[in-house]
Amino acid sequence: MSELVDVCPLSELPTGAVKRIEWEDLEVMVVNCGEEILAMEDRCSHDNGDLADGEIDVSRCAVECPRHGSWFDLRSGKPLNLPAYVPIDTFPVVVEDGVVRVELD
Ligand code: FES
Repeated sequence: MSELVDVCPLSELPTGAVKRIEWEDLEVMVVNCGEEILAMEDRCSHDNGDLADGEIDVSRCAVECPRHGSWFDLRSGKPLNLPAYVPIDTFPVVVEDGVVRVELD
């Protein structure tokens, strides 16, 4: 069963900013891409790189793995270049009463 987990007030997540949350055994990164707020597992599918420490490209809603340079589409979780080739899980985000929440299961 899924659960809505609080991330932070919307005011603390300006465009280009990243928040990292932990829930059970999952680490999730939440990113404000300007037009939308997106959530993806904070673990590179290539070799467990910490994506929340990577560069964010707001113009295409993507993050670069700081370990070996694969970029990931934050909307789909799909890698955009090698060496990663396996998609990463993404999660729905809602903003309610000025609070960013992510739906995890
Ligand atoms: S760990 Fe992310 S590209 Fe290698």
